[in-house]
Amino acid sequence: MKQTKIVLSDNDIPTKWYNIMADMPNIPKPPLHPATKRPITPQDLSPIFPMALIEQEMSRERWINIPEEVLDIYSLWRPSPLYRAHRLEKALGTPAKIYYKYEGVSPAGSHKPNTSIPQAYFNKKAGIKRIATETGAGQWGAAMALAGRLFGMDVTVYMVKVSYGQKPYRRIQMETWGATVHASPSNVTNAGRKFLEVDPNNQGSLGLAISEAVEDAATHDDTNYALGSVLNHVCLHQTVIGLEAKKQMEIAGDYPDIVIACCGGGSNLAGISFPFIYDKIHGKKVRVMAVEPASCPTLTKGEFRYDFGDVVGLTPYLTMYTLGHDFMPPGIHAGGLRYHGDSPIVSQLYHDKIIEAKAYNQIPVFEAAIQFAGSEGIIPAPESAHAIRAVIDEAILCKQEGKQKTILFNLSGHGYLDLQAYADYHDGKLQDYEYPAEKIKEALAKLPRI
Ligand SMILES: Cc1ncc(COP(=O)(O)O)c(C=O)c1O
Repeated sequence: MKQTKIVLSDNDIPTKWYNIMADMPNIPKPPLHPATKRPITPQDLSPIFPMALIEQEMSRERWINIPEEVLDIYSLWRPSPLYRAHRLEKALGTPAKIYYKYEGVSPAGSHKPNTSIPQAYFNKKAGIKRIATETGAGQWGAAMALAGRLFGMDVTVYMVKVSYGQKPYRRIQMETWGATVHASPSNVTNAGRKFLEVDPNNQGSLGLAISEAVEDAATHDDTNYALGSVLNHVCLHQTVIGLEAKKQMEIAGDYPDIVIACCGGGSNLAGISFPFIYDKIHGKKVRVMAVEPASCPTLTKGEFRYDFGDVVGLTPYLTMYTLGHDFMPPGIHAGGLRYHGDSPIVSQLYHDKIIEAKAYNQIPVFEAAIQFAGSEGIIPAPESAHAIRAVIDEAILCKQEGKQKTILFNLSGHGYLDLQAYADYHDGKLQDYEYPAEKIKEALAKLPRI
């Protein structure tokens, strides 16, 4: 019988996270204080993050221990399975071998609890009572709500308004785990009120929701902020995905020629690819591809420079590919990919040509999602479907060129709470947005020169 799943035992859960900062040829330039424009210190971050996470953010140690309490919760769903997509390969008639790591098995339905659990743990240990955070599609908010619940902490989530309307079940999921959810922009914060005054119909963006959550955390002593992507410590926590995948590929007797992942803030891509990029830096041949929406083409059309992580300018300046912090991307269904910037580490790797990037419109992305669901069964999250589009295109190229490449991708989440997006696709209501060149140009023109 041919093997479809490669499943590890609980004992195979990685006990250390991999920190790529130890191996990068060029590490990102330091984050700068938003007021002084000088490199930030650990103390600058301490009003909103616990020291353990600040240390991870700045660490150059290659391996960082995963605490027992975190491993204990990881064991609810980790190690996640690696699948060989025999049926998709057959449907495509491709000689390529396609593997996918499936992160939709987590209780929240995506890769996000890999970091929400340790973030809640380190905050709880530091005596914090409440976490304020943002969410795009709701996957991160759900993951944080779950983590808060498991560690007995309150969680307040600012959910981008377009997703709040599109995804009521995601809100209910968060509330079931005890979180309070506000549609962002909300009238709870100064940042939210400011944007509502200008446009009461503002549909929100991740950058704006981040401003609200950071303001909430900075103005309450018992509250810290948690970010679901972008930052170094978030990318670090996600590396459990790639560390497991490496072991599973070894069991399969294979090694990827290409590793593919969708890229919003970059932590998903980081998770699956950084352990393979370690090999690449040390001489192995492997391509790594980030896939993003054509309507929010951060890596493929952005500029590499210092910018704020949020709309209002409360966060430090980070070096990243950016479309400008007040760029409001069109309301596509892959809400988790609607972010103006990208992880500084992922941006640096792209700048150094260690990874590549590709952008797709949402209709071809949903076509790929439906083809995948029709052969592998799982209905993917719209974000993950971006990776699937690229995988199918690479596999078709293999067929045209008669090459048997091995493709690995991260199926970062399931789409069972995103079915409205599929309904819109079936009803012909989805539209592709033109590349918003003018809006991006405007947003970039407003950036401060550093
Ligand atoms: C299912 C899913 N995949 C991928 C992403 C993008 O993640 P990242 O910001 O880590 O790139 C998200 C973001 O919300 C998501 O929900």
